[in-house]
Amino acid sequence: MATTEDKPATKEKTSSWKDSIYNPRTGELLGRTASSWGLILLFYLVFYAFLAGMFALTMWVMLLTLDDYVPKYRDRVPNPGLVIRPNSLDIAFNKSEPLQYSGYVKHLESFLERYNETEQEKNEECIQGEHFLQDDTEEMTKKACRFKRSFLSLCSGLSDTNFGYSEGKPCVLLKMNRIIGLKPRGKPYISCAIKKDDPVQMHYFPREGLIDQMYFPYYGKKAHESYVQPLVAVKLLLNKEDYNKELTVECKVEGSDLNNNDERDKFLGRVIFRIKVSDQLPAHPEAAALLFTVNSSVYPAPALPSRGYTVSTSSPS
Ligand SMILES: *[C@@H]1O[C@H](CO)[C@@H](O)[C@H](O)[C@H]1NC(C)=O
Ligand SMILES: *[C@@H]1O[C@H](CO)[C@@H](O)[C@H](O)[C@H]1NC(C)=O
Ligand SMILES: *[C@@H]1O[C@H](CO)[C@@H](O)[C@H](O)[C@H]1NC(C)=O
Repeated sequence: MATTEDKPATKEKTSSWKDSIYNPRTGELLGRTASSWGLILLFYLVFYAFLAGMFALTMWVMLLTLDDYVPKYRDRVPNPGLVIRPNSLDIAFNKSEPLQYSGYVKHLESFLERYNETEQEKNEECIQGEHFLQDDTEEMTKKACRFKRSFLSLCSGLSDTNFGYSEGKPCVLLKMNRIIGLKPRGKPYISCAIKKDDPVQMHYFPREGLIDQMYFPYYGKKAHESYVQPLVAVKLLLNKEDYNKELTVECKVEGSDLNNNDERDKFLGRVIFRIKVSDQLPAHPEAAALLFTVNSSVYPAPALPSRGYTVSTSSPS
């Protein structure tokens, strides 16, 4: 707070400070006259309008050179990633509880809608084992090769609407990401392995997990509207010993020039996911033996080391 002695000095100060904003004698605002301000505004207006015009012009010229159907810049065709459906790298469910796997089943069902018989009837019956080249055709819209969901047999969801989840032998679908112009060499196929001592049997659909060459190349979203990616289904034939354990499954694209062991990108041509199928917990062998011989009303059930199993104290009927 200013005292009375200070007042004249502060008054002078504020007036000069006020003058620097607006000086009533010269009519200057922030040290410039109105006409000077007007010229500056006009200059910037013209300047920015010119810049905006330049930008719009170059953008327009560049868009003129683009084609909706063919990508302009394609120097090197990259390698595709491998993905799985259901869209989860951690699949876990109890095979006796439909609610736990219904999400996976619904996901697979809706994913396969595009592969329906009725949808795929519209597509071409292509020559197997050959690339379906359509570069020289005049048509902008390219034809697509048929991939019916019935090719996936037991994993098509047609005969077994639960995709094997209810029987504890679940199906997983694999597909490669679309890459425009990709033409793999060789005979690409998908191969999966579970990191475990005794191997788990697997069924591949189509047979041997083959990805036919006729589904390549892909011409892009607009040009190749009816294109569907070829799929490979893997049915994991799990046994009792495989239940209630987390299994790590690795699937790879083999048999072609596609990269499947990039150090930095672990989804290039391969995918690793975990799967755990729960079942009734197996009766403990010792407990079963005890139940058989011990009359619980004479000898109360001995305290077994608790391993998550409940020991019934009633005599077997
Ligand atoms: C695909 O086929 C299944 C089984 O035949 C049917 O339930 C589903 O509605 C069909 N979907 C489309 C989009 O046609
Ligand atoms: C799986 O579900 C069944 C039936 O509901 C149940 O008896 C069993 O304990 C469950 N298993 C696990 C590991 O939770
Ligand atoms: C088990 O115990 C019950 C009650 O003490 C008795 O009635 C029954 O005979 C016993 N059973 C055997 C097999 O010993």
